[in-house]
Amino acid sequence: MTATEQSNSLSITDNRTGKRYEVPIQNGTISTMDLRQIRVDEEDFGLLGYDPGFLNTASCKSRITYIDGDQGILRYRGYPIEQLAMSSSFLETSYLLIKGELPDKERLAVWTYNIRHHTMTHANIIKFMDGFRYDAHPMGIMVGTVGALSTFYRDAKDINSEESRKLQVRRLIGKIPTLAAMSFRHSLGFPYVLPDNDLSYAGNFLSMMFKMTEQRYKPNPVLERALDVLFILHADHEQNCSTNAVRAVGSSGVDPYTAIAAGCAALYGPLHGGANEAVIHMLLKIGSVDKVPEFIKSVKDGDGRLMGFGHRVYKNYDPRAKIIKEIAFQVFEETGKNPLLEIALELERIALEDDYFVSRKLYPNVDFYSGLIYQAMGFPMDMFPVLFAIGRIPGWLSQWIEHVKDGEQKIARPRQIYLGEAERDYIPMEKRPKTRLDEQRAGICRL
Ligand code: CMC
Repeated sequence: MTATEQSNSLSITDNRTGKRYEVPIQNGTISTMDLRQIRVDEEDFGLLGYDPGFLNTASCKSRITYIDGDQGILRYRGYPIEQLAMSSSFLETSYLLIKGELPDKERLAVWTYNIRHHTMTHANIIKFMDGFRYDAHPMGIMVGTVGALSTFYRDAKDINSEESRKLQVRRLIGKIPTLAAMSFRHSLGFPYVLPDNDLSYAGNFLSMMFKMTEQRYKPNPVLERALDVLFILHADHEQNCSTNAVRAVGSSGVDPYTAIAAGCAALYGPLHGGANEAVIHMLLKIGSVDKVPEFIKSVKDGDGRLMGFGHRVYKNYDPRAKIIKEIAFQVFEETGKNPLLEIALELERIALEDDYFVSRKLYPNVDFYSGLIYQAMGFPMDMFPVLFAIGRIPGWLSQWIEHVKDGEQKIARPRQIYLGEAERDYIPMEKRPKTRLDEQRAGICRL
Protein backbone atom coordinates (compact mmCIF):
# COMPACT_ATOMS: atom_id res chain seq x y z
CA MET A 1 0.00 0.00 0.00
CA THR A 2 1.43 3.46 -0.97
CA ALA A 3 1.65 6.30 1.58
CA THR A 4 -1.35 8.10 -0.02
CA GLU A 5 -3.41 4.91 -0.02
CA GLN A 6 -2.37 4.38 3.60
CA SER A 7 -3.61 7.84 4.62
CA ASN A 8 -6.88 7.30 2.70
CA SER A 9 -7.75 4.17 4.58
CA LEU A 10 -9.33 2.90 7.74
CA SER A 11 -7.48 0.51 10.05
CA ILE A 12 -9.75 -1.96 11.75
CA THR A 13 -8.71 -4.32 14.51
CA ASP A 14 -11.04 -7.24 15.06
CA ASN A 15 -10.84 -7.79 18.80
CA ARG A 16 -12.35 -11.27 18.39
CA THR A 17 -9.27 -12.45 16.50
CA GLY A 18 -6.71 -9.70 17.04
CA LYS A 19 -6.38 -9.38 13.24
CA ARG A 20 -5.90 -5.98 11.63
CA TYR A 21 -7.37 -4.86 8.32
CA GLU A 22 -6.81 -1.85 6.08
CA VAL A 23 -9.95 -0.69 4.29
CA PRO A 24 -9.67 1.99 1.58
CA ILE A 25 -11.65 5.23 1.95
CA GLN A 26 -12.97 6.77 -1.28
CA ASN A 27 -15.22 9.84 -1.45
CA GLY A 28 -15.47 9.74 2.36
CA THR A 29 -16.91 6.23 2.17
CA ILE A 30 -15.83 2.68 2.85
CA SER A 31 -17.28 -0.15 0.80
CA THR A 32 -19.17 -2.48 3.12
CA MET A 33 -18.03 -5.32 0.81
CA ASP A 34 -14.53 -4.66 2.24
CA LEU A 35 -15.89 -5.72 5.63
CA ARG A 36 -16.65 -9.20 4.31
CA GLN A 37 -12.98 -10.20 4.69
CA ILE A 38 -13.29 -9.68 8.46
CA ARG A 39 -14.09 -13.18 9.65
CA VAL A 40 -13.68 -15.17 12.86
CA ASP A 41 -12.92 -18.37 10.95
CA GLU A 42 -13.29 -19.98 7.53
CA GLU A 43 -16.96 -20.83 8.22
CA ASP A 44 -17.85 -17.23 9.11
CA PHE A 45 -19.77 -15.35 6.39
CA GLY A 46 -17.89 -12.13 7.18
CA LEU A 47 -18.83 -8.82 8.79
CA LEU A 48 -21.99 -7.06 7.52
CA GLY A 49 -23.17 -3.47 7.96
CA TYR A 50 -26.55 -3.06 9.72
CA ASP A 51 -28.42 0.09 8.73
CA PRO A 52 -32.23 -0.07 8.76
CA GLY A 53 -33.64 2.91 6.86
CA PHE A 54 -30.23 3.61 5.22
CA LEU A 55 -29.32 6.25 7.82
CA ASN A 56 -25.64 6.05 6.97
CA THR A 57 -25.40 4.02 3.79
CA ALA A 58 -24.88 5.40 0.26
CA SER A 59 -26.62 3.19 -2.30
CA CYS A 60 -25.20 4.82 -5.43
CA LYS A 61 -22.86 7.41 -6.89
CA SER A 62 -24.88 10.23 -8.42
CA ARG A 63 -24.25 13.43 -10.36
CA ILE A 64 -27.81 14.76 -10.27
CA THR A 65 -28.76 16.45 -7.01
CA TYR A 66 -26.64 17.79 -4.18
CA ILE A 67 -28.01 18.42 -0.70
CA ASP A 68 -26.14 19.82 2.29
CA GLY A 69 -28.62 19.25 5.08
CA ASP A 70 -26.71 21.27 7.68
CA GLN A 71 -26.41 24.32 5.45
CA GLY A 72 -29.89 24.02 3.90
CA ILE A 73 -28.46 23.71 0.37
CA LEU A 74 -30.23 22.02 -2.55
CA ARG A 75 -28.78 22.05 -6.08
CA TYR A 76 -29.86 20.31 -9.28
CA ARG A 77 -26.81 19.54 -11.46
CA GLY A 78 -24.96 22.24 -9.51
CA TYR A 79 -27.59 24.99 -9.90
CA PRO A 80 -29.03 26.35 -6.62
CA ILE A 81 -32.75 25.64 -6.20
CA GLU A 82 -33.38 29.33 -5.44
CA GLN A 83 -32.04 30.36 -8.88
CA LEU A 84 -34.01 27.67 -10.71
CA ALA A 85 -37.20 28.62 -8.85
CA MET A 86 -36.62 32.25 -9.74
CA SER A 87 -35.62 31.93 -13.40
CA SER A 88 -36.28 28.48 -14.83
CA SER A 89 -39.43 26.66 -15.94
CA PHE A 90 -40.42 23.13 -14.96
CA LEU A 91 -39.78 21.76 -18.45
CA GLU A 92 -36.36 23.43 -18.62
CA THR A 93 -35.51 22.05 -15.15
CA SER A 94 -36.67 18.60 -16.30
CA TYR A 95 -34.27 18.86 -19.25
CA LEU A 96 -31.48 19.88 -16.90
CA LEU A 97 -32.11 16.96 -14.55
CA ILE A 98 -32.32 14.38 -17.30
CA LYS A 99 -29.62 15.64 -19.67
CA GLY A 100 -27.25 17.25 -17.18
CA GLU A 101 -27.01 20.73 -18.75
CA LEU A 102 -29.35 23.65 -19.34
CA PRO A 103 -30.70 23.61 -22.92
CA ASP A 104 -30.07 26.34 -25.50
CA LYS A 105 -33.14 28.01 -27.02
CA GLU A 106 -33.48 25.53 -29.87
CA ARG A 107 -33.02 22.44 -27.71
CA LEU A 108 -35.59 23.73 -25.23
CA ALA A 109 -38.07 24.33 -28.07
CA VAL A 110 -37.60 20.79 -29.41
CA TRP A 111 -37.83 19.29 -25.89
CA THR A 112 -41.03 21.26 -25.14
CA TYR A 113 -42.54 20.23 -28.50
CA ASN A 114 -41.71 16.57 -27.87
CA ILE A 115 -43.29 16.55 -24.43
CA ARG A 116 -46.38 18.44 -25.55
CA HIS A 117 -46.90 15.86 -28.27
CA HIS A 118 -47.08 13.07 -25.74
CA THR A 119 -49.76 14.52 -23.50
CA MET A 120 -52.61 12.37 -24.90
CA THR A 121 -53.22 8.92 -23.50
CA HIS A 122 -54.47 5.85 -25.33
CA ALA A 123 -58.28 5.85 -25.38
CA ASN A 124 -58.28 2.52 -23.49
CA ILE A 125 -56.95 4.35 -20.44
CA ILE A 126 -60.43 5.87 -20.09
CA LYS A 127 -61.96 2.41 -19.67
CA PHE A 128 -59.26 1.57 -17.20
CA MET A 129 -59.86 4.81 -15.27
CA ASP A 130 -63.60 4.20 -15.21
CA GLY A 131 -63.01 0.89 -13.48
CA PHE A 132 -61.95 2.64 -10.28
CA ARG A 133 -64.60 3.33 -7.63
CA TYR A 134 -65.97 6.89 -7.61
CA ASP A 135 -64.24 7.61 -4.28
CA ALA A 136 -60.87 6.02 -5.13
CA HIS A 137 -57.91 8.04 -3.84
CA PRO A 138 -56.30 9.72 -6.90
CA MET A 139 -52.85 8.63 -5.74
CA GLY A 140 -54.01 5.01 -5.73
CA ILE A 141 -55.30 5.60 -9.26
CA MET A 142 -51.90 7.04 -10.24
CA VAL A 143 -50.07 3.98 -8.91
CA GLY A 144 -52.37 1.76 -10.99
CA THR A 145 -52.48 3.77 -14.20
CA VAL A 146 -48.77 4.64 -14.36
CA GLY A 147 -48.01 0.94 -13.93
CA ALA A 148 -50.63 0.13 -16.57
CA LEU A 149 -48.83 2.35 -19.11
CA SER A 150 -46.20 -0.40 -19.34
CA THR A 151 -48.84 -2.60 -20.98
CA PHE A 152 -49.41 0.04 -23.67
CA TYR A 153 -45.72 0.58 -24.51
CA ARG A 154 -44.10 -2.82 -24.75
CA ASP A 155 -41.07 -1.18 -26.44
CA ALA A 156 -40.27 0.31 -23.00
CA LYS A 157 -38.81 -3.05 -21.97
CA ASP A 158 -35.77 -2.22 -24.08
CA ILE A 159 -34.19 -0.30 -21.23
CA ASN A 160 -30.67 -0.52 -22.62
CA SER A 161 -31.62 1.39 -25.79
CA GLU A 162 -31.00 5.12 -25.46
CA GLU A 163 -33.65 5.84 -28.10
CA SER A 164 -36.25 3.83 -26.21
CA ARG A 165 -35.35 5.56 -22.93
CA LYS A 166 -35.72 8.98 -24.59
CA LEU A 167 -39.16 8.07 -25.88
CA GLN A 168 -40.39 6.79 -22.51
CA VAL A 169 -39.10 9.97 -20.82
CA ARG A 170 -41.18 12.13 -23.19
CA ARG A 171 -44.21 9.93 -22.75
CA LEU A 172 -44.01 9.89 -18.98
CA ILE A 173 -43.43 13.62 -18.47
CA GLY A 174 -46.13 14.33 -21.08
CA LYS A 175 -48.80 11.93 -19.83
CA ILE A 176 -48.53 12.20 -16.04
CA PRO A 177 -50.55 15.46 -15.79
CA THR A 178 -53.19 13.94 -18.07
CA LEU A 179 -53.54 10.86 -15.84
CA ALA A 180 -53.52 13.06 -12.73
CA ALA A 181 -56.31 15.30 -14.04
CA MET A 182 -58.33 12.26 -15.15
CA SER A 183 -58.06 10.74 -11.68
CA PHE A 184 -59.45 13.97 -10.19
CA ARG A 185 -62.33 14.28 -12.67
CA HIS A 186 -63.18 10.63 -12.27
CA SER A 187 -63.73 11.19 -8.54
CA LEU A 188 -66.21 13.99 -9.32
CA GLY A 189 -67.88 12.26 -12.24
CA PHE A 190 -66.84 15.09 -14.57
CA PRO A 191 -66.03 14.32 -18.23
CA TYR A 192 -62.31 14.15 -18.99
CA VAL A 193 -60.70 17.17 -20.68
CA LEU A 194 -58.30 16.66 -23.57
CA PRO A 195 -54.88 18.32 -23.34
CA ASP A 196 -54.55 21.83 -24.79
CA ASN A 197 -51.03 21.84 -26.20
CA ASP A 198 -51.01 25.60 -26.79
CA LEU A 199 -50.89 26.12 -23.05
CA SER A 200 -47.81 25.81 -20.84
CA TYR A 201 -47.16 22.55 -18.98
CA ALA A 202 -48.75 23.86 -15.77
CA GLY A 203 -51.44 25.80 -17.69
CA ASN A 204 -52.50 22.69 -19.59
CA PHE A 205 -52.68 20.73 -16.35
CA LEU A 206 -54.91 23.41 -14.79
CA SER A 207 -57.08 23.28 -17.92
CA MET A 208 -57.44 19.49 -17.76
CA MET A 209 -58.32 19.80 -14.06
CA PHE A 210 -60.73 22.70 -13.99
CA LYS A 211 -62.13 23.39 -17.50
CA MET A 212 -65.89 23.20 -17.54
CA THR A 213 -68.12 24.51 -20.36
CA GLU A 214 -65.92 27.37 -21.59
CA GLN A 215 -64.47 27.10 -25.11
CA ARG A 216 -60.94 27.63 -23.91
CA TYR A 217 -59.56 27.56 -20.37
CA LYS A 218 -57.47 30.60 -19.48
CA PRO A 219 -55.19 29.86 -16.53
CA ASN A 220 -54.57 32.63 -14.02
CA PRO A 221 -50.90 33.54 -14.78
CA VAL A 222 -49.97 33.91 -11.09
CA LEU A 223 -51.35 30.48 -10.21
CA GLU A 224 -49.86 28.96 -13.38
CA ARG A 225 -46.39 30.25 -12.49
CA ALA A 226 -46.79 29.27 -8.82
CA LEU A 227 -47.66 25.70 -9.85
CA ASP A 228 -44.72 25.57 -12.25
CA VAL A 229 -42.36 26.69 -9.46
CA LEU A 230 -43.89 24.12 -7.09
CA PHE A 231 -43.15 21.44 -9.69
CA ILE A 232 -39.53 22.71 -9.92
CA LEU A 233 -39.16 22.54 -6.13
CA HIS A 234 -40.38 18.93 -6.09
CA ALA A 235 -38.44 17.80 -9.18
CA ASP A 236 -35.69 15.85 -7.43
CA HIS A 237 -34.34 15.22 -3.97
CA GLU A 238 -31.55 12.65 -4.35
CA GLN A 239 -32.04 9.26 -2.65
CA ASN A 240 -35.38 9.80 -0.89
CA CYS A 241 -37.80 6.95 -0.19
CA SER A 242 -39.60 7.04 -3.58
CA THR A 243 -36.42 7.53 -5.64
CA ASN A 244 -34.88 4.63 -3.80
CA ALA A 245 -38.02 2.62 -4.69
CA VAL A 246 -37.64 3.57 -8.38
CA ARG A 247 -33.97 2.57 -8.35
CA ALA A 248 -34.56 -0.65 -6.39
CA VAL A 249 -37.45 -1.80 -8.58
CA GLY A 250 -35.64 -0.60 -11.72
CA SER A 251 -32.58 -2.62 -10.69
CA SER A 252 -34.46 -5.79 -11.65
CA GLY A 253 -34.41 -4.56 -15.26
CA VAL A 254 -38.12 -3.77 -15.41
CA ASP A 255 -39.51 -1.04 -17.73
CA PRO A 256 -39.61 2.58 -16.45
CA TYR A 257 -43.43 2.73 -16.10
CA THR A 258 -43.35 -0.12 -13.59
CA ALA A 259 -40.37 1.37 -11.76
CA ILE A 260 -42.07 4.78 -11.59
CA ALA A 261 -45.33 3.22 -10.40
CA ALA A 262 -43.22 1.93 -7.48
CA GLY A 263 -42.05 5.53 -6.92
CA CYS A 264 -45.68 6.71 -6.84
CA ALA A 265 -46.51 3.95 -4.35
CA ALA A 266 -43.65 4.97 -2.05
CA LEU A 267 -44.57 8.65 -2.35
CA TYR A 268 -48.17 7.93 -1.29
CA GLY A 269 -47.27 7.39 2.38
CA PRO A 270 -47.88 10.11 5.00
CA LEU A 271 -44.20 10.25 5.98
CA HIS A 272 -43.26 11.13 2.40
CA GLY A 273 -45.39 12.75 -0.36
CA GLY A 274 -48.59 12.17 1.58
CA ALA A 275 -47.39 14.61 4.26
CA ASN A 276 -48.83 17.66 2.44
CA GLU A 277 -52.29 16.12 2.69
CA ALA A 278 -51.65 15.11 6.30
CA VAL A 279 -50.69 18.73 7.16
CA ILE A 280 -54.12 20.01 6.12
CA HIS A 281 -55.89 17.22 8.05
CA MET A 282 -53.78 18.21 11.06
CA LEU A 283 -54.61 21.95 10.68
CA LEU A 284 -58.32 21.15 10.34
CA LYS A 285 -58.13 18.95 13.44
CA ILE A 286 -56.47 21.75 15.44
CA GLY A 287 -59.27 24.04 14.27
CA SER A 288 -58.19 27.41 15.66
CA VAL A 289 -55.08 29.36 16.68
CA ASP A 290 -55.86 29.15 20.40
CA LYS A 291 -55.73 25.32 20.23
CA VAL A 292 -52.14 25.34 18.90
CA PRO A 293 -50.33 25.14 22.30
CA GLU A 294 -52.50 22.19 23.31
CA PHE A 295 -51.67 20.43 20.03
CA ILE A 296 -47.94 21.09 20.39
CA LYS A 297 -48.11 19.59 23.88
CA SER A 298 -49.83 16.45 22.55
CA VAL A 299 -47.04 16.02 19.94
CA LYS A 300 -44.38 16.41 22.63
CA ASP A 301 -46.23 13.82 24.73
CA GLY A 302 -45.82 11.38 21.84
CA ASP A 303 -49.38 11.60 20.52
CA GLY A 304 -48.65 11.87 16.77
CA ARG A 305 -46.23 14.06 14.83
CA LEU A 306 -46.20 17.65 13.74
CA MET A 307 -46.75 16.94 10.06
CA GLY A 308 -44.72 19.03 7.61
CA PHE A 309 -41.89 19.28 10.14
CA GLY A 310 -38.60 17.40 10.23
CA HIS A 311 -36.47 15.84 7.57
CA ARG A 312 -33.98 13.01 7.36
CA VAL A 313 -31.40 15.20 5.64
CA TYR A 314 -32.17 18.87 6.46
CA LYS A 315 -31.10 19.66 9.98
CA ASN A 316 -31.13 23.44 9.57
CA TYR A 317 -33.95 24.43 7.23
CA ASP A 318 -35.49 23.05 4.08
CA PRO A 319 -34.67 25.63 1.35
CA ARG A 320 -37.78 24.56 -0.54
CA ALA A 321 -40.00 25.49 2.43
CA LYS A 322 -38.59 29.04 2.41
CA ILE A 323 -39.49 29.52 -1.27
CA ILE A 324 -42.90 27.89 -0.84
CA LYS A 325 -43.78 30.23 2.03
CA GLU A 326 -43.11 33.21 -0.29
CA ILE A 327 -45.21 31.66 -3.08
CA ALA A 328 -48.03 31.07 -0.61
CA PHE A 329 -48.40 34.78 -0.01
CA GLN A 330 -48.34 35.52 -3.79
CA VAL A 331 -51.07 32.94 -4.36
CA PHE A 332 -53.21 34.20 -1.48
CA GLU A 333 -53.13 37.70 -3.07
CA GLU A 334 -55.06 36.12 -5.97
CA THR A 335 -57.22 33.56 -4.21
CA GLY A 336 -57.75 35.15 -0.84
CA LYS A 337 -56.02 33.89 2.28
CA ASN A 338 -56.40 30.23 3.22
CA PRO A 339 -58.14 30.37 6.63
CA LEU A 340 -55.79 27.65 7.90
CA LEU A 341 -52.75 29.90 7.31
CA GLU A 342 -53.00 31.56 10.74
CA ILE A 343 -52.92 28.17 12.45
CA ALA A 344 -49.89 27.11 10.37
CA LEU A 345 -48.01 30.33 11.15
CA GLU A 346 -48.69 29.96 14.86
CA LEU A 347 -47.60 26.30 14.81
CA GLU A 348 -44.37 27.30 13.10
CA ARG A 349 -43.77 30.20 15.50
CA ILE A 350 -44.24 28.07 18.63
CA ALA A 351 -42.38 25.04 17.29
CA LEU A 352 -39.35 27.09 16.27
CA GLU A 353 -39.05 28.39 19.85
CA ASP A 354 -39.75 25.09 21.59
CA ASP A 355 -36.82 23.08 22.88
CA TYR A 356 -38.40 19.74 21.81
CA PHE A 357 -38.30 20.77 18.13
CA VAL A 358 -35.14 22.90 18.31
CA SER A 359 -33.06 20.19 20.02
CA ARG A 360 -34.19 17.62 17.44
CA LYS A 361 -33.53 20.07 14.60
CA LEU A 362 -37.11 19.89 13.36
CA TYR A 363 -37.95 22.68 10.90
CA PRO A 364 -40.77 23.14 8.37
CA ASN A 365 -40.24 20.99 5.30
CA VAL A 366 -41.52 21.29 1.72
CA ASP A 367 -44.93 19.93 2.71
CA PHE A 368 -45.74 22.38 5.48
CA TYR A 369 -47.01 25.21 3.27
CA SER A 370 -47.51 23.48 -0.11
CA GLY A 371 -50.88 22.01 0.92
CA LEU A 372 -52.17 25.46 1.88
CA ILE A 373 -51.30 26.73 -1.60
CA TYR A 374 -52.85 23.77 -3.38
CA GLN A 375 -56.00 24.12 -1.30
CA ALA A 376 -56.27 27.84 -2.07
CA MET A 377 -55.89 27.02 -5.78
CA GLY A 378 -58.90 24.71 -5.56
CA PHE A 379 -57.21 21.30 -5.47
CA PRO A 380 -58.90 18.79 -3.17
CA MET A 381 -56.67 17.39 -0.43
CA ASP A 382 -56.29 13.93 -1.88
CA MET A 383 -54.78 15.46 -5.03
CA PHE A 384 -51.82 16.91 -3.11
CA PRO A 385 -49.58 13.82 -3.26
CA VAL A 386 -50.46 13.54 -6.96
CA LEU A 387 -49.15 17.08 -7.50
CA PHE A 388 -45.93 16.06 -5.73
CA ALA A 389 -45.70 13.06 -8.09
CA ILE A 390 -46.07 15.21 -11.22
CA GLY A 391 -43.16 17.35 -10.04
CA ARG A 392 -40.99 14.36 -9.08
CA ILE A 393 -41.29 12.56 -12.44
CA PRO A 394 -38.15 14.09 -14.06
CA GLY A 395 -36.16 13.34 -10.90
CA TRP A 396 -37.26 9.71 -10.85
CA LEU A 397 -36.51 9.40 -14.55
CA SER A 398 -33.05 10.96 -14.34
CA GLN A 399 -32.20 8.72 -11.36
CA TRP A 400 -33.54 5.66 -13.19
CA ILE A 401 -31.43 6.46 -16.29
CA GLU A 402 -28.34 7.02 -14.14
CA HIS A 403 -28.99 3.68 -12.47
CA VAL A 404 -29.47 1.78 -15.74
CA LYS A 405 -26.20 3.22 -17.11
CA ASP A 406 -24.20 2.64 -13.93
CA GLY A 407 -21.95 -0.37 -14.44
CA GLU A 408 -21.37 -0.69 -10.68
CA GLN A 409 -25.05 -1.29 -9.93
CA LYS A 410 -26.56 -4.70 -9.37
CA ILE A 411 -30.03 -5.91 -8.50
CA ALA A 412 -30.97 -4.29 -5.16
CA ARG A 413 -30.95 -7.04 -2.63
CA PRO A 414 -30.12 -6.21 1.00
CA ARG A 415 -28.89 -8.68 3.56
CA GLN A 416 -30.67 -9.38 6.84
CA ILE A 417 -29.74 -10.42 10.34
CA TYR A 418 -31.71 -13.59 10.97
CA LEU A 419 -32.91 -13.81 14.57
CA GLY A 420 -35.64 -16.41 14.10
CA GLU A 421 -35.87 -20.05 15.12
CA ALA A 422 -33.04 -22.47 14.41
CA GLU A 423 -33.93 -25.62 12.43
CA ARG A 424 -36.76 -27.67 13.97
CA ASP A 425 -38.94 -30.59 12.85
CA TYR A 426 -42.41 -30.18 11.36
CA ILE A 427 -45.16 -30.97 13.92
CA PRO A 428 -48.19 -32.91 12.65
CA MET A 429 -51.49 -31.11 13.36
CA GLU A 430 -52.68 -33.53 16.04
CA LYS A 431 -49.48 -33.07 18.01
CA ARG A 432 -49.51 -29.26 18.07
CA PRO A 433 -50.38 -27.51 21.36
CA LYS A 434 -54.11 -26.77 21.76
CA THR A 435 -55.22 -23.18 21.21
CA ARG A 436 -57.80 -21.38 23.31
CA LEU A 437 -60.28 -21.74 20.41
CA ASP A 438 -59.79 -25.53 20.35
CA GLU A 439 -60.43 -25.65 24.09
CA GLN A 440 -63.59 -23.54 23.74
CA ARG A 441 -64.83 -25.80 20.96
CA ALA A 442 -64.16 -28.80 23.19
CA GLY A 443 -66.18 -27.10 25.95
CA ILE A 444 -63.18 -26.64 28.24
CA CYS A 445 -63.69 -23.55 30.37
CA ARG A 446 -60.66 -21.73 31.76
CA LEU A 447 -61.08 -20.00 35.08
N1 CMC B 1 -43.04 15.84 14.90
C1 CMC B 1 -42.63 15.47 16.13
N2 CMC B 1 -41.48 14.82 16.38
C2 CMC B 1 -40.74 14.47 15.33
C3 CMC B 1 -41.09 14.80 14.01
C4 CMC B 1 -42.28 15.51 13.81
N3 CMC B 1 -42.67 15.88 12.60
N4 CMC B 1 -40.14 14.33 13.17
C5 CMC B 1 -39.23 13.73 13.92
N5 CMC B 1 -39.58 13.82 15.24
C6 CMC B 1 -38.82 13.34 16.39
C7 CMC B 1 -38.90 11.84 16.56
O1 CMC B 1 -39.97 11.48 17.39
C8 CMC B 1 -37.55 11.51 17.14
O2 CMC B 1 -37.58 11.89 18.50
P1 CMC B 1 -36.78 11.00 19.60
O3 CMC B 1 -35.34 11.16 19.25
O4 CMC B 1 -37.16 11.57 20.91
O5 CMC B 1 -37.26 9.58 19.40
C9 CMC B 1 -36.61 12.49 16.43
O6 CMC B 1 -37.44 13.62 16.11
C10 CMC B 1 -35.97 11.93 15.18
O7 CMC B 1 -37.02 11.45 14.34
P2 CMC B 1 -36.85 10.28 13.30
O8 CMC B 1 -38.19 9.69 13.01
O9 CMC B 1 -35.76 9.36 13.77
O10 CMC B 1 -36.31 11.07 12.02
P3 CMC B 1 -36.26 10.52 10.54
O11 CMC B 1 -35.12 11.19 9.89
O12 CMC B 1 -36.28 9.02 10.52
O13 CMC B 1 -37.65 11.00 9.93
C11 CMC B 1 -39.29 12.28 8.83
C12 CMC B 1 -37.79 12.06 9.03
C13 CMC B 1 -39.51 13.30 7.70
C14 CMC B 1 -39.96 10.94 8.40
C15 CMC B 1 -39.92 12.78 10.16
O14 CMC B 1 -39.33 14.00 10.54
C16 CMC B 1 -41.44 12.91 10.07
O15 CMC B 1 -42.15 11.93 10.30
N6 CMC B 1 -41.96 14.16 9.76
C17 CMC B 1 -43.38 14.34 9.59
C18 CMC B 1 -43.82 13.85 8.21
C19 CMC B 1 -43.38 14.80 7.12
O16 CMC B 1 -43.56 16.01 7.22
N7 CMC B 1 -42.84 14.22 6.04
C20 CMC B 1 -42.43 14.98 4.86
C21 CMC B 1 -40.94 14.93 4.67
S1 CMC B 1 -40.36 16.16 3.49
C22 CMC B 1 -41.03 15.69 1.98
C23 CMC B 1 -40.49 14.42 1.47
O17 CMC B 1 -39.39 14.42 0.91
O18 CMC B 1 -41.18 13.41 1.59
